[in-house]
Amino acid sequence: MPTVTYTAPDGTATTASGEAGDSVMETAVRNGVPGIVGECGGSLSCATCHVFVCPESAAFFGEREDLEDDMLDGTAVDRQENSRLSCQLKLSAGHDVFVRTPESQV
Ligand code: FES
Repeated sequence: MPTVTYTAPDGTATTASGEAGDSVMETAVRNGVPGIVGECGGSLSCATCHVFVCPESAAFFGEREDLEDDMLDGTAVDRQENSRLSCQLKLSAGHDVFVRTPESQV
């Protein structure tokens, strides 16, 4: 079962188990992980699921699509090189993913 560890800006880490095919956003919302809103439910129209993907996890995910890249220009906290919208990050069996959440999503 894949897991995602979400580290908040204050260093608090929360690890949640997900299912293969779920997104990093869905896994956070389903498990009540703070720091990810996911207002649009994953339809790439809110940018409230912004995360910073830790280097060791970057290889699990493909490149950003153009729309995700455009939406990252509208996040509450400025994007960084490793910014992703977590609704676009799908889990696979056996993956243990590490992300950091931003100070704010709105
Ligand atoms: S949940 Fe809205 S863009 Fe990801």
